[in-house]
Amino acid sequence: MTTKKIIEKKKNGEKIVTITAYDYSFGRIVDECGFDLILVGDSLSQVILGHENTLGVTLDQMIHHTKAVSRGVSNALLVGDMPFLSYKINIRDAVYNAGRFIQEGGAEAVKVEGGTEILPTVKAILDADIEVMGHIGLTPQKVYRFGGHLVQGKTIDAAKKLIIDAINLQDAGVFSIVLEGIPWQIAKLVTSTVDIPTIGIGAGQYCDGQIIIIYDMLGIFTEFKPKFVKHFGQIGQNIRDALNSYKDEIVGSQYPDLDHSYSYPTEDLDGVNEWLESADLEKEATKLKEKLI
Ligand code: KIV
Repeated sequence: MTTKKIIEKKKNGEKIVTITAYDYSFGRIVDECGFDLILVGDSLSQVILGHENTLGVTLDQMIHHTKAVSRGVSNALLVGDMPFLSYKINIRDAVYNAGRFIQEGGAEAVKVEGGTEILPTVKAILDADIEVMGHIGLTPQKVYRFGGHLVQGKTIDAAKKLIIDAINLQDAGVFSIVLEGIPWQIAKLVTSTVDIPTIGIGAGQYCDGQIIIIYDMLGIFTEFKPKFVKHFGQIGQNIRDALNSYKDEIVGSQYPDLDHSYSYPTEDLDGVNEWLESADLEKEATKLKEKLI
């Protein structure tokens, strides 16, 4: 998958299917399922690292996880999410940090949160030949300025700003825009205004594609469930059931049984037993230590 093909999908009226992943195994499963784009989201701050919001994850941690996901992905477009403090301090650092996602992390694009106010940064990253995905609406890195994870774009001015931000980001050259936590009618207007794809999360069905946090949709992360999250599986419960069965089988000496154990040839075992009966084990232990250490 390439950014060009993602844009073509919108032109052809095909939905764009995307999701987050944070490690090799999930990256591989998602890729095998034929997803168009995988985002190593800074939501890993909460779902992997246990922070309260996305502000806790560092650039190095993001790159570490992006690298892991990239080893499992061969088809989907891999996007690294630039975390808090990695692109809004100054443009030079923003470009360099974006480049680290590509060079070290194996990503093919980066995502940044913000609208018209971050255009100079977006352009500078694009000028360094790094593909950029935009993200407007409920941008979680602004959680304290918003006063919580609150739906955005609810006033006329806020809705107009979202539309203008999307146009400006498109004109700057981003290949798609995440629309997060905005009323579906506004997401629909943004989507019909721009030619590049919109990828919705909590933005209704009229976006060109959807994204969701994989731990949310699988029912693994259940501490907090926004209105838009749907559990497509109860994997958290499946994990608990499996862990309890494992625990019970250990306590009941059912696991591991012979089918899950390596076997030793009987004739050799007799030899080991004979040796064990006659050997001076302390002496043997000292002898081996003297030889090896
Ligand atoms: O961090 C993340 O996972 C995201 C998506 C929810 C868009 O930014």
